[in-house]
Amino acid sequence: MTGMKNVLQDIHLQNNKTCRDPLIGISMSREQKLLSSFSRSLSVSRRKVNLRLRKRAKQTPAMAVLHGDRSMELAMAMTEKLTALVTVRYNKAYVEEVMNNFVNIFSPKSHSGVVLQLISTEFDPRSNEPKLSKETILEWPKEMRLEAEGSTYQVEFLIDSDFGIPGALTVINNYEYEFFLESITIDEYLHFACKYWVQPNALHPEKRFFFTNKAYLPSETPIALKELREKELRQLRGEGRGVRIFHDRIYDYDVYNDLGDPDKGDEYVRPTLGGPENPHPRRCRTGRPPTNTEKKAESRLSESESIYVPREEELEKLKRKTVEERKLKGKLRNIVPFLLEFITGDGKVSDVESLFKEPAHSEMKSHHSVLDNLRDSIEEYFKFDPPKIFLRNTSIFLPDDEFGRQVLAGINPLSIERLKVFPPTSKFDTSIYGPLESALKEEHIKGHIEGLSVQQALEENKLYILDYHDIYLPILERINALDQRKTYATRTIFFLTQMGTLKPIAIELTLPPQDPNTPSRQVLTPPTDAATNWLWRLGKAHVRSNDAVVHQLVHHWLRTHACVEPFIIATHRQLSVMHPIFKLLHPHMRYTMKINAMARETLINAGGIIETDFTPGKYCMQISCAAYRDWWRFDLEALPADLIRRGVAVPDTTQPHGLRLLIEDYPYASDGLLIWSSIEKLVKTYVNHYYKDANAIATDNEIQSWYRESINLGHADLQNAKWWPKLATPDNLASIITTIIWIVSAEHAALNFSQYPYGGYVPTWPPLMRRLIPMEQDPEYTDFVTDPQSYFLSSLPSLFQATKFMAVMDMISAHSPDEEYIGDIYDMSSWLGNNEIIVAFYQFSMEIKSIEKEIERRNADPELRNRCGAGVSPYEQLIPSSGPGTTGRGIPKSITV
Ligand SMILES: [Fe+2]
Repeated sequence: MTGMKNVLQDIHLQNNKTCRDPLIGISMSREQKLLSSFSRSLSVSRRKVNLRLRKRAKQTPAMAVLHGDRSMELAMAMTEKLTALVTVRYNKAYVEEVMNNFVNIFSPKSHSGVVLQLISTEFDPRSNEPKLSKETILEWPKEMRLEAEGSTYQVEFLIDSDFGIPGALTVINNYEYEFFLESITIDEYLHFACKYWVQPNALHPEKRFFFTNKAYLPSETPIALKELREKELRQLRGEGRGVRIFHDRIYDYDVYNDLGDPDKGDEYVRPTLGGPENPHPRRCRTGRPPTNTEKKAESRLSESESIYVPREEELEKLKRKTVEERKLKGKLRNIVPFLLEFITGDGKVSDVESLFKEPAHSEMKSHHSVLDNLRDSIEEYFKFDPPKIFLRNTSIFLPDDEFGRQVLAGINPLSIERLKVFPPTSKFDTSIYGPLESALKEEHIKGHIEGLSVQQALEENKLYILDYHDIYLPILERINALDQRKTYATRTIFFLTQMGTLKPIAIELTLPPQDPNTPSRQVLTPPTDAATNWLWRLGKAHVRSNDAVVHQLVHHWLRTHACVEPFIIATHRQLSVMHPIFKLLHPHMRYTMKINAMARETLINAGGIIETDFTPGKYCMQISCAAYRDWWRFDLEALPADLIRRGVAVPDTTQPHGLRLLIEDYPYASDGLLIWSSIEKLVKTYVNHYYKDANAIATDNEIQSWYRESINLGHADLQNAKWWPKLATPDNLASIITTIIWIVSAEHAALNFSQYPYGGYVPTWPPLMRRLIPMEQDPEYTDFVTDPQSYFLSSLPSLFQATKFMAVMDMISAHSPDEEYIGDIYDMSSWLGNNEIIVAFYQFSMEIKSIEKEIERRNADPELRNRCGAGVSPYEQLIPSSGPGTTGRGIPKSITV
């Protein structure tokens, strides 16, 4: 009976805590009223619990522990029923897949139903094992159709009256197909928000178990659940061998040895990413067999097979449907330009405009004939919505002011740096790369810096640079040896005007040294006549092309998608689902592993979309690896640290975020800091709630293993770097978690969802360049002088290349209808009765809503010329909310595309 007393005390205490209004003293906004009513409903729920448990206490006979040799009558009298509601759903597509793949392993049905059993948080003193309820069987109704979306069933558990609080539940699925266990609620108060697939017992004979929602640090785990907690983690880690099949749920690491396809021929051989030659973060291990020709390479899948990720990482039905539809649309859209190129032989990228829908088109629809409507339907499917940038600037040439604005508020606002020395320098060894002195001289820029000397401009923080010199130089020669792919290592100097905008004032274009008579560097400056005007346009196109590559391969792929995956794998392997940090991170890991797996299948693989569409071709991933080896640092991934590293901000403790932006109207940075600070505040409150001091961090073996493994296995190539932050204090942990949530939410959103709105108009964002800029001594120079526009267009991607790129950008810039955004309310069931945490989440949600309003206010402020003005796009990339589709805004909680 001691256990029951504890139950009552525990619930009573929580009830009292919950009754206190957490918002006393705060004015009641709509959201706050919502929170207050949420708290009240918790209170009511707790009172119900209390009553229920009092009733149970009255029913319990004499205060005694039930011993094995008591009479059956007494035993029956001391048994009571708990009613549970079990919510499940099914997945027909996967059912069929299971049946196709595994039909032969099923024996004739001897059992059916789902067997459920509760596990207490207390040990049975007789067996020294956790107390168990009687097994109960849940059977689907006979007329149940497999495609049913979901149903709730009532079951009853028989428990001994001294059972204590249920802490876990085992589930055996005797049916022949998997089902999704959404939740189990016992007596309205005890929740298991399972949200996991349960596989047929014939496929997975190990019992599945689920824990109640309550968060426990390892040391606080109820004694009867400790072994289960560890056992589940062992199951999730697996043993590092064997081929993973789609219903497995094992998280493990591997190198990227699956990008090439050597069995198809030498041109499909690619190096392994991960290891001393090509450092790269690790990916999820699939264990597929090696190729025939290269034993260290993992074989590729056929088109009909689905790449393995643990079952819970698969896309949900709605998301999968959206992806499939957009894939199909992308493929179909390429038919039109393909035919155009095939028929005319010279489809130009400028023809791409004919593939955009007419903006006013839909208003005319009601007057159309049947034939017109049919044509409209075809257009609807084949044509693209005009990208935002096209609507505001229909020229194929990007004006200087827009060129400067976009490095602060465009698709890639993460590369701009303050220039600290002039001319800029390289870190490379001259014995390998030849003379490395920049060709930039004072005379190139002094006429464009508002009368300042270069030294004054540097001292006044007026000079900025996009520096792609060192990223490109090592692979420049190999790229330019590829057919129809030509590029430079570019540097662009910008001047910060008194209006707060950036003006491009010089572009340095570098090629590898060829012979002493051929200069390998040239400098372009703003045009003074017709010829220099065309050269300047070509120069800007090459810079934008460098920028597109770095955006995709360094900032987008490497820094967000690839670098986060090891943390996700480690979270599942080392943190129990009961761990408070697992619960905090869980919504921020949704879909990412599957998206990355799909990227290995069709985006970053040999001959995949990235290689086809971007200038460096088969050397694309070398750029990611070099950036990872030479530049990436986890400690500098925090937004404030990144801004300071790039010199665009300086530390300043008097400012709200502890730093001062040197370019005040820097939309990505100024909006990003608002989001960063909100995430940081939430995470600090959360972490400090669970960890009172450094000792709590040091003694949490799960959190220590999680961090150690993220580094030593997930980021194995950089495991010896000195810059990894320590994990010794609650502040350390809060900083690490804030950085991860920032990367997967706002940073990824800023880089991902504007790809089509800003990059969909290929003439101003060419991912691929086909020709170098002609020099006077080149034979092509005459062609250029005769018809510079044709030369310009023939330097850009072909129409087919452009539309293929647009189709992909459109697909990966879209939100699916099941997106979860950063301001959305979290599932609070893990923190019932924990007002501090609930209030922190609601306040975070309210702050995100007010940030949205602040961003809209900024976008309407004419003083902020980088986001407001005639023809200027507002900066919407960090507006937290969005609808589905390609909206150019919205911050999902995780990397979902
Ligand atoms: Fe992405």
